[in-house]
Parts: sequence; structure tokens; C-alpha cells
Amino acid sequence: MTDDLRPEYAERLIRGRRATRAFRSDPVPQSTLEAVFSLAAAAPSNSNTQPWHIEVVSGAARDRLADALVAAHLRGDTTPDFPYRPDLYQGVHQRRRRHAGQQMYGAVGIARDDHEARAAYDVESLRFYGAPHVALLFTAPTAEERMAADVGIYAQTLLLAMAAYGIDSCPQGLLSFFADTIRSELGVRDRKLLLGISFGYADEGAPANRLRMPRAALAETTRFH
Ligand SMILES: Cc1cc2nc3c(=O)[nH]c(=O)nc-3n(C[C@H](O)[C@H](O)[C@H](O)COP(=O)(O)O)c2cc1C
Repeated sequence: MTDDLRPEYAERLIRGRRATRAFRSDPVPQSTLEAVFSLAAAAPSNSNTQPWHIEVVSGAARDRLADALVAAHLRGDTTPDFPYRPDLYQGVHQRRRRHAGQQMYGAVGIARDDHEARAAYDVESLRFYGAPHVALLFTAPTAEERMAADVGIYAQTLLLAMAAYGIDSCPQGLLSFFADTIRSELGVRDRKLLLGISFGYADEGAPANRLRMPRAALAETTRFH
């Protein structure tokens, strides 16, 4: 760690990143994409296995993928590789999740009990909130929790690398519910899909992007012995 990596840079970078849910259509230059994805690959992993594989989708392929995702959603064709259970989030996690949903939909003027409008917003999010690019984060066919943790660490490294290069992003777990559709569209054979990250440049004026999500107080999550 060198002396010139000042804490204030990290504070600005880490706290400056946030989930962006409305993008302009202009693409990120290829040279910047390559710099960002090269930097993200510096993420640590168990025994340096680097068990991630990333498909970056732009242009016409991005548009086709968005159409395929919306069609799969309308067919009810969900195929998550890491199954979701309704009782996954309990207690404080469930409360935070509910609060996050209220904030997210509230930011775009959707009322708490307007389930139809919420569902329509979710469908639109399958078009990557208008982002010109989406990165799909895959892992090995044999992967379970341990490899998923490595890919999670890669994901945050990628989000911060993007932020450092002035690129806005939204991690979208929702995309992982459509693993077969995504594999089929991209010609990926048997890798497991963990997460999608939509990215580009924020539409700064959009109400969705005014959201600032709170965090739990330090003592709620961290104990010093
Ligand atoms: C693994 C993961 C999955 C997520 N899935 C979604 C998603 O499907 N749709 C969405 O709009 N935001 C999604 N988010 C964004 C979170 O809602 C967001 O990170 C959280 O509310 C904190 O807000 P912030 O990122 O702006 O600090 C996801 C974030 C992570 C880390």
C-alpha cells in the first residue's frame, strides 16, 4: 500500500458509488472498457483461483438481450442458478429490504401498495435501466457459496473501478433469475450466472438517481474484540 493512497480518495470513491437507475444512451469507449475490466481483475480470490467469467454486452446484442429478458419474464420463464427462497431475508434484513424497496419505488413516484406499477418498473429494469452496456458475471459450473463469495468481491472491485473511471452502474440480481435466457442469447454453455451489472453514464436529472440509501450504524454490524 503506497503512501499516496490517501483515505480521502477511498472515502470519495467508495461513498461516491451508488446504484444508478437511469442512464444516458452514449456508450463507454472501448479503451475505457478495457482499462476498467483489467483493473477489476485485480480483485482477490480464494487461492487466486479468479473463478469469474464476464460477458460484456453492448450495441445490437444488448438490445436483443433486453428483448429476450422481457419476453422470458412475460412467459414466467425464470431459471436462477442460485435459487432464491422467500424466507431468505429475516428480521432486520427483511426490514432493510422492505425499506430499500419503498425508497427505490418511491423515488420514481410509485406508491407502496401499487403492485402493478412496481411490477411494470421491474419489467423495465430488464432493459438495464436504459444503460448502453451490461456485464454478466458468471462463475464455474461447479460453483457454490465459496466461489460466489469470490465473484461478489470481484463485483465490488468492478463497481469501484467503474466509479474511478467516471462510469455509473447498477448491480442487478434480478438478471440472474433469467440464467438460461442469458446463456442462450450469449452462447454461454454451462457457467453459472450470479449477477448482472448495467453501466454507462447516469442521466443526472432523472428522479431515480436522486436516491441516497442509508447504512446501518457501525455498531449494528461490527463488533470490536
Ligand atoms: C447483489 C446485488 C443485487 C442487486 N440487485 C438489484 C436489482 O435487481 N435491481 C436494482 O434496482 N438494484 C439492485 N441492487 C442495488 C441495491 O439495491 C443497492 O446497492 C442498495 O440499495 C444500496 O444502494 P446504493 O448501491 O445506491 O448504495 C443490487 C445490489 C447488489 C449488491
